[in-house]
Amino acid sequence: MASEIVVLPGDGIGPEVTRAAVATLQAVGRRYGHDFRFQTHLIGGAAIDATGEPLPAATLAACRQADAILLGAVGGPKWSDPSATVRPEQGLLALRQALGLYANLRPVRPHPVALGASPVKPHLLAGVDLLVVRELTGGLYFGEKQRHADRASDLCEYSVLEIERVLRRAFGFARARRGKLVSVDKANVLETSRLWRETATRIGREEYPDVALDHQLVDSMAMHLIARPRDFDVVVTENLFGDILTDEASLLAGSLGLLPSASLGDGRRGLYEPIHGSAPDIAGRGIANPFATMLSAALLLRHSLGLEEEALAVELAVAAALDSGALTADLAAPGQAVSTQAAADAVLERLEPRC
Ligand code: NAI
Ligand code: MG
Repeated sequence: MASEIVVLPGDGIGPEVTRAAVATLQAVGRRYGHDFRFQTHLIGGAAIDATGEPLPAATLAACRQADAILLGAVGGPKWSDPSATVRPEQGLLALRQALGLYANLRPVRPHPVALGASPVKPHLLAGVDLLVVRELTGGLYFGEKQRHADRASDLCEYSVLEIERVLRRAFGFARARRGKLVSVDKANVLETSRLWRETATRIGREEYPDVALDHQLVDSMAMHLIARPRDFDVVVTENLFGDILTDEASLLAGSLGLLPSASLGDGRRGLYEPIHGSAPDIAGRGIANPFATMLSAALLLRHSLGLEEEALAVELAVAAALDSGALTADLAAPGQAVSTQAAADAVLERLEPRC
């Protein structure tokens, strides 16, 4: 049966890196005999320019029908005027919310060639393999916002149901990995965090007694993540804490250009994108690192299409390309960098060796 994949290239380097990821999926399709069908749609600044809307109705409708969505990045200086009422980022937030994608996954497994590029000492990074699961559709970002004269407020609200569903995803991943889950909150101060912690404890006891559950306060977790990153397997947390901790965790991998993400809901449909933005400073020059988006395609194969062997093949091909020295400018020594296309080709030829 054919799989329908919606491609949203977006802005800046988005089209350059999604092209490499689509080529990856096409190579996987040929090698393993899968029928992947691609449809490209507008989002972000490109969509504002063409239609006035950051998430056109046709894009949302196509995404609702799709098995999976692959996104580049949105935004850029052209659409960043503070007085603008329509912004590219609104398209992405609206898409995540409309599709109920409440669990954002960011796996971090630093490749040896990238260790030197991280500000964290290499000996702390060897063997790091962690997965951060961030709640994506609740908490402060979606609570009521108010502004009165010299005061402002943002409401942080979570229901048990919202907490349970993301925790179950995280417990499930922990069970399939090394059986360790750290739940991060601020339960010494916040009521939402106390509800979060109670819920985590109950679900762990009743449904996942085989997973070792630990609780950490977010401030000390920020420290532990850098001081002893190897100790963590799966980390789960609410929206704001997750936003901050995932950026911190991305430092462990050396380059933004290597980190993929998946946003999942209750069904199999997911949204897959690199964690980096549209990188307007390097857009259009063919020098962006395509690996974060190609690795996002691997997550798409794994989580939306259930193709674990194919996902692993992509991850191994990217690792082998890095080993072979196919390094873009964010990773290479001066004068040694290869282009986006050459880096992508180094992966593609490993996926589909010529006989
Ligand atoms: P950014 O991630 O686009 O760039 C940060 C730095 O990393 C830049 O120097 C860039 O050249 C470099 N970089 C990023 N991706 C790279 C890659 N694949 N290969 C090589 N170098 C890479 O973040 P920045 O500059 O803060 O934001 C630029 C625009 O992207 C803004 O409009 C922002 O709102 C948007 N953005 C969009 C996101 C999304 O679509 N999910 C996420 C983050 C930012
Ligand atoms: Mg962020």
